[in-house]
Amino acid sequence: MKRSFMMAMALISMAGCSKKAREAPPAAVAAEAAPLSYELRLGRETYRHYCMICHGEGGAGDGFNAFNLDPHPRDYSDPAFQKKKTDAELADAIRRGGAGVGLSALMPPWGHTLSDAQISQVVLYIRTLEHKPE
Ligand code: HEC
Repeated sequence: MKRSFMMAMALISMAGCSKKAREAPPAAVAAEAAPLSYELRLGRETYRHYCMICHGEGGAGDGFNAFNLDPHPRDYSDPAFQKKKTDAELADAIRRGGAGVGLSALMPPWGHTLSDAQISQVVLYIRTLEHKPE
């Protein structure tokens, strides 16, 4: 009786430990986030939550959903694309969606979901996805 009580206590405290471990960010993520400003990290959160599924983690237009999209989203890592579009044009496409700016309606409008600040942050983040030659 006493022994099984001890076992149960040990199990409970082990469960407590593993929960703590899960809440702490892994060291690699913390290190990767370090060079990004607070604004960019907010932009990255928004991007990962809403956009990555279609646009891909690195913005190459190769998200999980992209096979389903015709046309595919543009490649944000392409410096030629980045040069061609102003921040205002990107923000406008995000706010009004593809249908609002003469692009494919498969790009949803985000103006009701995201605040202006969130849209500016995500535009800033999209700018960091440009592939820089080493
Ligand atoms: C359901 C899939 C999907 C999601 C989710 C999505 N997009 Fe798109 N997006 C597209 C597609 C497809 C296009 C290409 C439209 C075209 O070129 O005709 C596009 C185009 C764009 C463009 C215009 C690029 C250009 O060529 O001018 C921007 C900017 C953009 N997306 C940003 C975002 C952002 C930011 C998010 C998240 C808030 C997001 N998208 C979420 C599918 C998606």
